[in-house]
Amino acid sequence: MTSNLATKLREGTKKAHTMAENVGFVKCFLKGVVEKTSYRKLVANFYFVYSAMEEEMERHKQHPIVSKIYFSELNRKASLEQDLYYYYGNNWREQIALSPAGEAYVQRIREVSATQPELLVSHSYTRYLGDLSGGQILKNIAQRAMNLSDNGGSAFYEFTDIADEKAFKNEYRQALDMMPVDDETADRIVEEANDAFGLNMKMFMELEGNLIKAIGQMLFNSLTRRRTRGSTEAGLATAD
Ligand code: HEM
Repeated sequence: MTSNLATKLREGTKKAHTMAENVGFVKCFLKGVVEKTSYRKLVANFYFVYSAMEEEMERHKQHPIVSKIYFSELNRKASLEQDLYYYYGNNWREQIALSPAGEAYVQRIREVSATQPELLVSHSYTRYLGDLSGGQILKNIAQRAMNLSDNGGSAFYEFTDIADEKAFKNEYRQALDMMPVDDETADRIVEEANDAFGLNMKMFMELEGNLIKAIGQMLFNSLTRRRTRGSTEAGLATAD
């Protein structure tokens, strides 16, 4: 007996996926417009979000539904710690803080874990299947845009304990289908996955403002530098 949850999730979040792809920050990222200050804030938010999600998944790893997709090889907390060390340095822990959207995301994870742990499936699905799907492409974009070397700043995209990401995704989907869920529970899981997409979008939107400011600042600097150079050149010309 299959619950068809994998298909229900894919079909039921299609719209949310398209919307997430169209958030300015995500679109800029795909075009290679990535700026370190914004990106490291995202990594910091992810650190809190994945820490909460992985802690709560661990708490419920014997749960009849959650246990089906409890795969510790997906865990991202340690890789995010490596990236935070890269972006913030030794004392990264003292430097990072959750943004308001990140805070809302973490709170929701804690809340569902305490009241309806089966909805942790939605949070796991939204993040990990996304990470497994776009990982390599996003890693290449981040490396190129921020001039990262092979070893620093992109550990998040590396699933070192998963040999074949495509095969793993299929295994994950099969596990979703094997879950003992009735239609009502499946509907709630899809609904929560849509909410998880929304929480991600809010986190990206917060960064959009930072990115626009940073691009504006870079433009301003380059314009004023050119002006200063121009006026110095003009000054030299009149001195002649
Ligand atoms: C940067 C923009 C994005 C692109 C280009 C992108 C691209 C893709 C692609 C091509 C797949 C299909 C992979 C396959 O069929 O095996 C996919 C799947 C997925 N993506 Fe994204 N994605 C993006 C953003 C996101 C975001 C922001 C999230 C959630 C926070 C997300 C979550 C997912 C999930 C959950 C799946 C699995 C769908 C399923 O098969 O059930 N994606 N993505």
